[in-house]
Amino acid sequence: MPYDQAPYGLEMATVLITQRLLEGSLEPLETDGHELIQPGQSGPMSEDELLDAVRRVDGVVCTLTDRITAAVLEAGARERLKVVGTASVGFDHIDVAAAKRLGVAVCNTPGVLDESTADLAFFLILAAARRTSDSEADLRAGAWTGPTLAGHLGVDVHGATLGLVGFGRIARQVARRAEGFGMRVLHHSRRDTGEAGYVGVLEDLLALADIVSLHVPLDTSTRHLIGPAQLAAMRPSSILVNTARGPVVDEAALADALEAGRIFGAGLDVYENEPAVDPGLLAARHVTLLPHVGSATLATRKAIGRLACQGVADLLAGRAPGAPVT
Ligand code: GLV
Repeated sequence: MPYDQAPYGLEMATVLITQRLLEGSLEPLETDGHELIQPGQSGPMSEDELLDAVRRVDGVVCTLTDRITAAVLEAGARERLKVVGTASVGFDHIDVAAAKRLGVAVCNTPGVLDESTADLAFFLILAAARRTSDSEADLRAGAWTGPTLAGHLGVDVHGATLGLVGFGRIARQVARRAEGFGMRVLHHSRRDTGEAGYVGVLEDLLALADIVSLHVPLDTSTRHLIGPAQLAAMRPSSILVNTARGPVVDEAALADALEAGRIFGAGLDVYENEPAVDPGLLAARHVTLLPHVGSATLATRKAIGRLACQGVADLLAGRAPGAPVT
């Protein structure tokens, strides 16, 4: 049976919800009359907990903090697991190749979080350019002695050149916001988009941009896409923003670059080993650090939860899901 068109047609299934979802999210599964198992946790399930729970369900609704490994998928597929829906756009926490091999369909939640994530990317652009975290830290520490002409200087966002790495839905929403700020927008992606502003060589884009914002999914080709050589290609006056996935950036190299003043600043929402953050980054000035909250608005998180449950309900019923991962 083709993995992305599995006509399961299950009338009453059992679905594991790994994390508490917001109100209304479960409705598509409830409407279809499925039994829901909700351990009620607010954090990720451990691999052992998943290995145990997955044996008794037909479907799983997970989030990006649940590691849906080949072992988890195998344990489920040996029994009755058919569908995994993730309440996230990224699916690097799911072994999609194993799912495909085992005939477990996967769906995600693209589209509904583009605008909120783009808002947050733009917030980080502004925060890093104006070094607002440093200013606020000084103020809170009682180190502010009043406004001075030479104190707390940032760089302008308006009129600057924005370099987008990746040019999918979220990047395009960031580009729209940048137009309002009178920015020149360039982009780089693996395939030539044929659109105005395309730069074919990543290092060229990095050298041209005042602000670089990352919007690529995490896979083997994007792990440490930004390492020492790429940071060296950036200008000392430039800024790096990451709202995509932590491992896209070599965190230790970024901490070194900030420490040495090789770039002006950074804004990060994602980390290589979440929830751990490189001590060098925690100690660095000129960086705004957020705890992976790109899509964290009430409306967006409700929409994400609902879309994930809808996708699982659709697959279980043999309907085509809105967002299959293929
Ligand atoms: C957030 O990082 C997501 O992938 O939805």
